[in-house]
Amino acid sequence: MNEYDSELVRAILSEAGYSFTEDAQLADVVMLNTCSVRENAHRKVYGLIHDIRHGHKGKPVVIGILGCMATGLRKELIDNKSLGLDFVVGPDSYKRLPEILRDVFEKHGQGYDVTLSEFETYSDIYPTRTGGVNAWVAVMRGCNNFCSFCIVPFTRGRERSRSVENVLDEVKRLIGEGFQQVTLLGQNVNSYHHEGQDFAALLEAVSRIDGIRRIRFTSPHPKDFPESLIRVVGENPKICKHIHLPLQSGNDRILGLMNRHYTATGYLNLVEKIRKVCPSAALTTDIIVGFPTEIAGEFEDTVRVMKAVEFDSAFMFKYSPRPNTQAARELKDDVSEDEKTSRIMRINTLQSDISLKKNKARVGTIEEVLIEDVEKAKGGVAYARNDVNKVVALPAGNFQIGDFMSVRIIRATPHQLKGEIIS
Ligand code: 5AD
Ligand code: SF4
Repeated sequence: MNEYDSELVRAILSEAGYSFTEDAQLADVVMLNTCSVRENAHRKVYGLIHDIRHGHKGKPVVIGILGCMATGLRKELIDNKSLGLDFVVGPDSYKRLPEILRDVFEKHGQGYDVTLSEFETYSDIYPTRTGGVNAWVAVMRGCNNFCSFCIVPFTRGRERSRSVENVLDEVKRLIGEGFQQVTLLGQNVNSYHHEGQDFAALLEAVSRIDGIRRIRFTSPHPKDFPESLIRVVGENPKICKHIHLPLQSGNDRILGLMNRHYTATGYLNLVEKIRKVCPSAALTTDIIVGFPTEIAGEFEDTVRVMKAVEFDSAFMFKYSPRPNTQAARELKDDVSEDEKTSRIMRINTLQSDISLKKNKARVGTIEEVLIEDVEKAKGGVAYARNDVNKVVALPAGNFQIGDFMSVRIIRATPHQLKGEIIS
């Protein structure tokens, strides 16, 4: 979402006459688009600000913070004199950036806008994409779920969706520019709804656009996965058979405390339904270990669900309290750091074994991949992705970025497949 938002910011600032450089040392203005979903991000950002000033060797540079840290930390950032920030702008205020920057330059003051909107979807801005084969398209913004560990509802505000027509216009335009794959984005993408149209209807409508080859989406919530959506994903050849389905925990008491609105059995039933309609689907997930009050036996329930589902891959996190969230307000972060480390190491190893097993099962199969990157150096390696979003490394050959190729999978590691070109 932040990558997409940065593309929106580029479009807004290009329109206002700004041009861009990837080299921070050449820039008059540097903006950091930040995430605050987990702890530590702000330390990295403070370090980066220091590096940027250092890189400018005394030459003045205007530095601003965008994104979730802006709303999450608000005045703290502006008031922190040692950071010396010039502006702080939250995710719903990017249209005000030209005005804020003008004030910073003309009045030499600080700019600040972290207001959250119930309506802003940037539906009138066409993002400036900077290449690659995938185009991100945010179809909804914000989140109303208030999972008890999560800061997003506080930093990105309430849920709102764009109209189907507006999303289709953007997708048609980017297909016209040569993109063949779109990824529909939302904090809780499958709670998309606009004037009676739900996410399944939106996916179908997008798939009918001429020239589109691959449609992906992220991230759905298990509680918003009706049969109709499973059927569209299973039956529509343009929708990639990869579902990222955050589990978070496999224990019902912890899921309740997390405010996730499903049980382990409910989750497993959903997985079964998905696999019945769409047997080739790759499932990936997010897991949190060491949520407050989680005891060893409850963590074992998460291990059990991971073994039962056999995810293709998983993002695994140690719980960290986030400001304002219900968990941080009401529950003591009482699982020790050592215990969190030992739990995460355990599931890292487990998942690595499962991922390897899943990937090995693909050795010998023929898959269609989309070439994403070609490195002419290093003996010529290319990187592609198959339908289920796995990276396939290939020897560089007579093809280029954006080509669809048929490959035979010849080797597997937990994180990657290796293939050879067939045609
Ligand atoms: N602590 C640890 N992990 C978290 N996530 C979100 N909030 C927290 C937190 N406070 C993880 C969840 C979510 C992913 C994007 O980040 O697993 O799905
Ligand atoms: Fe956070 Fe839960 Fe919303 Fe996802 S669904 S953004 S985890 S509150």
